[in-house]
Amino acid sequence: MGPANANLPRHIAITMDGNGRWAAARGVARAAGHKAGLKPVRMCVEECTRSGVEALTLFAFSSENWGRPADEVGSLMSLFLEALDREIAELDAQAVRLRFIGERKSLSVRLQARIAAAEERTAANRGLALQVAVSYGGRWDIIQAAQSLARECSNGSIRPEEISEARFAEALSLAGLPDPDLHIRTGGERRISNFLLWQLAYAELYFTERLWPDFAVADLNDALSFFASRERRFGQRPAAVSAAR
Ligand code: IPE
Ligand code: IPE
Ligand code: MG
Repeated sequence: MGPANANLPRHIAITMDGNGRWAAARGVARAAGHKAGLKPVRMCVEECTRSGVEALTLFAFSSENWGRPADEVGSLMSLFLEALDREIAELDAQAVRLRFIGERKSLSVRLQARIAAAEERTAANRGLALQVAVSYGGRWDIIQAAQSLARECSNGSIRPEEISEARFAEALSLAGLPDPDLHIRTGGERRISNFLLWQLAYAELYFTERLWPDFAVADLNDALSFFASRERRFGQRPAAVSAAR
């Protein structure tokens, strides 16, 4: 169990950064760094399952990452294919419900087919809800939600005034899940880099210098302890203060 069981996040989002620097420090190819990033993914899935976290959303490839050199993009896409094939049985056995979020049509037909098959295979599972963000951008997500609501308005199924925060959220990629309570970013950068722009509105933000391939149980527990120590106010007054008035 983590140290923070009384105050565990329901949903954790992670920006898995630092693979390239991890590889450079070892004098190996960047692709080897990305590959080494699979181990902490497995660890996080196991730990979340064990401690009862409901949802885990992992940022694997951003809309902007398409701008990297073709060989790196290619090695990442191959890695996603291989990892899916290799891990799906184990994820299924752990009752994980796996889903991908992001702009699917920009992925290869082969990868799209594997993703669809993996989602179908695990759709009825009731364990950890695991979302992998591939070709994902927070701005893309908001735009695709706006487009789908605009279509509903133009075909007359809803009126513009009926677009509420709740309805908008239901058109976003993480529909049906609580917003992430905790966002972890490894690799030392303190930015969101176009991850879940809408859904991170009230997340606690945890940054660590640890490079993603080195992210271990102790690091996850540090993030959970940080989370447990925060008082979440959501714009309201602290509980103790309002109770005293
Ligand atoms: C994160 O690692 C993985 C992806 C963005 C695909 P990076 O490749 O960004 O690693 P650094 O930040 O260069 O070390
Ligand atoms: C964010 O990392 C995207 C992923 C981890 C998938 P980047 O390495 O792409 O972000 P920047 O370029 O440092 O902002
Ligand atoms: Mg990076």
